[in-house]
Amino acid sequence: MAHLQENAVKKIVEICDRYAQERTPLMMILSDIQKEYGYIPLEVQEIVSEKTGISVAEIYGVVTFYSFFSLKPKGKYVIGCCLGTACYVKGAQQVIDKFSEIIGIKPGETSEDGLFTLDALRCIGACGIAPAVTINGKVYPKLSVDQIPKIVEEYRALEAN
Ligand code: FES
Repeated sequence: MAHLQENAVKKIVEICDRYAQERTPLMMILSDIQKEYGYIPLEVQEIVSEKTGISVAEIYGVVTFYSFFSLKPKGKYVIGCCLGTACYVKGAQQVIDKFSEIIGIKPGETSEDGLFTLDALRCIGACGIAPAVTINGKVYPKLSVDQIPKIVEEYRALEAN
């Protein structure tokens, strides 16, 4: 979607039209765009703004507030580390720091090879298995720092095969 081809513009307009009758369509529109393309860059927000009359500033505010929306393309494997209270007291900070150190990216970033995105999440509702991490939806319960190198290696190995 880098140069926003004509068919991408058409699709975004179509998504906006889908919710034209809704009183508060923004979240639905952005969710559908995120699902369709995996991210919502500024040029897309401008189209949504033109179609809905909602200001780009407001749209940008929503996209940057919710962690499931993204301004940039995400990596093939999205690592979500919960930093909610229950996970935090069980060492979640060390867990996210370890992912960060091994992959060489900060939370919110994507590795240059496009393989990993590291996200810090609020409570994901799995406090009983804290600290919890999800990778593309798969939950890793009670994760300890020493398990992390092997997990990252496994995902890298999937690519090498
Ligand atoms: S605080 Fe991490 S799952 Fe609830």
